[in-house]
Amino acid sequence: MLQIPKIVILTGAGISAESGLSTFRAQNGLWEGHNVDDVATYEGYLRDPIAVHSFYNMLRSKLQNPEVKPNAAHFALAQLEQKLGSDNVLIVTQNVDNLHEKAGSKNIIHMHGELLKVRNEKTGQVFACYDDVIYQDNHLIRPHIVWFGEMPLQMDEIYDALSKADYFISIGTSGNVYPAAGFVQMANQFGVKTVELNLEPSLGENLFNTKIYGPASQVVPEYIKNFM
Ligand code: APR
Repeated sequence: MLQIPKIVILTGAGISAESGLSTFRAQNGLWEGHNVDDVATYEGYLRDPIAVHSFYNMLRSKLQNPEVKPNAAHFALAQLEQKLGSDNVLIVTQNVDNLHEKAGSKNIIHMHGELLKVRNEKTGQVFACYDDVIYQDNHLIRPHIVWFGEMPLQMDEIYDALSKADYFISIGTSGNVYPAAGFVQMANQFGVKTVELNLEPSLGENLFNTKIYGPASQVVPEYIKNFM
């Protein structure tokens, strides 16, 4: 390769499906049986912080299951970063699990927050999670999770990386939730090559230059070979 390409990778719940974590919108998905307004909005949290914490404690406990571990897709992305360098490969994940870091990826933006962290509502201080912390110095502690109606994290960095990228690769996301669902459009405007790797066509499928459908553990390692 003459010049090292710059690659921005957006991941969603589909990349972790084969690691034993449910996606959100599938049958038996994470939202089934839960009222999103209750467990995934700030208003729901103010109404009943304990119920919201117990929902996220339940999700967090899934990460402790030894069977939940990175799959071939996570490892392929880590290898890609190792090969091309962290300056050239950025993972922007909507996932709140820790499977990209477990696979060895370093340059990661968790735009929807992280299950293994909580935040002091008043001071903004973010820290590693203790399941039963609700208050710190009389201030409410909240999961470090971006809820519906809230602005995702590190958006300026994401837009900057998209504007400089050669490739935008979207993996395992249904394209239901903005602003992530709009990245492909932005990438197209910047003249970035756009690629969708998903089990099935997403809502934005028509906006991608290249699309390959199948389980992430198969299609991601196969596609990544183009850069290795
Ligand atoms: N390999 C690849 N893709 C898969 C696999 C798999 N093994 N299994 C499922 N998928 C695809 C589904 O076809 C679907 O298009 O992954 C996508 C998952 O979609 P969602 O459940 O909607 O998850 P996601 O797009 O990550 O949700 C975005 O919504 O609920 C909020 O904040 C939450 O970050 C989440 C955001």
